[in-house]
Amino acid sequence: MQELQAINLTEFECLALNSPLNLADGHARQALTASQARIIDDLPNLFAKAAARAPEEVELDACRAYLGLLGQHSHPVGESRVFACYSSSVAMEIFARALAQKGDAVALIHPTFDNIPDILRGVGLNLLPLEEDVLHGGDLPRALLDAVSCVFVTTPNNPTGRVVTEERLRALAAQCAEHDVVLTLDTSFRGFDTRAHFDHYRVLEDSGCRWVVIEDTGKLWPTLELKIGWLVTSAEPGLPVAKVYSDILLGASPLVLALVQRFAEDAADGGLPDLHRFIAGNRVLVRRSLAGLPDVDFPDPGSRASVERVRLGRRSSLEVWSALREHNVYMLPCQKFHWADPSEGDHMLRVALARPAASLDEATRALRLVLSSR
Ligand SMILES: Cc1ncc(COP(=O)(O)O)c(C=O)c1O
Repeated sequence: MQELQAINLTEFECLALNSPLNLADGHARQALTASQARIIDDLPNLFAKAAARAPEEVELDACRAYLGLLGQHSHPVGESRVFACYSSSVAMEIFARALAQKGDAVALIHPTFDNIPDILRGVGLNLLPLEEDVLHGGDLPRALLDAVSCVFVTTPNNPTGRVVTEERLRALAAQCAEHDVVLTLDTSFRGFDTRAHFDHYRVLEDSGCRWVVIEDTGKLWPTLELKIGWLVTSAEPGLPVAKVYSDILLGASPLVLALVQRFAEDAADGGLPDLHRFIAGNRVLVRRSLAGLPDVDFPDPGSRASVERVRLGRRSSLEVWSALREHNVYMLPCQKFHWADPSEGDHMLRVALARPAASLDEATRALRLVLSSR
C-alpha cells in the first residue's frame, strides 16, 4: 500500500491502459457515433485537404469551430494569442514556464487533477491551496491575492464537476485585476457542461485583468489521443508565453486540427447534446448499480463532467482499488486530487463515464461485489 501512496494519478491510469475495464483515465473511450465514424472513414481526404491549405487557415478554422461550439464567441482567434499545442498538459507546461519567469506563487484550486500542481511545482512555483468552497463562496481573501502572482482555477473541475458561474468569474476577474494577479482557467472539461458555455472571453476581456485560458479538445471525443490543447492569453499577459511556446513547438498537426474542426461541426449538428445524454445515462447506470450499499454515496450530485466520484464510507480507496484489480477492473483512488492533503481522498474513487455502457455495467458490478464484502 505504501508504494501505491507514492504514485501519481497518471501512473494509476497507465496501470489501467491495457485492461478492457479501464475506468481510470478521463480520456474519451466510448465508441464513435455513426457520424463520427464517417469522419474517420474520410481521413485520407481530410489529410489531403489539410496538406493543401496554409497551416494558419486550418488552425483558425479549427479553433473557431471548437470555441464557437462551446459558446466562447469573444475568443481572440486570429490575434496571435491563441497557441495550439499537442495536448493541454503541453499548454500547461508552456504556461508554467512563462509564469515561473515572472512570479513565484500560485493560488491553485483544491482538489484538482494532480498533473496541474505537479507541472507548476516542476518549474519551481510555490502553491497555496484555494479550496473549492472558498472559490465559490464569495470574494477571495485579500491576503491570498497579495501572496500570489496567479490564481489557477479548473472549471468544470476534475474530479468534482463544479463550475464557476458567470457571476463568480466576473467577481474573480475583478479581484485579479485589482491585485494585478494573472487569472488562469483550465477548461478541459467544459464541453460536458452547458453551464460552462457562457462566453468566458467576454467576461475576461471586460474585466481588464491579465488572463490565460487552457482549452482542451481531448476529453470529449474518442479520437485515440488526437487532440489539441489551446493556450489563449489576454492581449498583455505580462508573461513570455509566445517566446516559451516557440522554445517548445512550431505548431500542432494540421491533420489533427482539421479532425477537431470536423468533430466540432458534427457536435454542433446534434452530436453534443447526444454526448451529454450518453454521459448522463452512464452516470445513472453507476449510481443505480451501487444503490443501497451501506455508506456508499456520490458527493457530486450536480456534476455533468465525464467522471463520477464514489464515496466509500470507511473503506480505503487503495484497498478497494487493489481488490478491483483482481477482477481486472481499474478506477482511480482520489488521494492525489487532494494535492495539499491527500488523506482527504482516502475513502473516494473516481469512475470514468466516457466508456461504452456495457463496460461500465460490468465494472460497477465488480465494484458492487467488492464493496459488499467489505
Ligand atoms: C483538468 C485537466 N487538465 C488537463 C489534463 C491533461 O490532459 P492531457 O493528458 O490530455 O494533456 C487533465 C487530464 O486528465 C485534466 O483533468
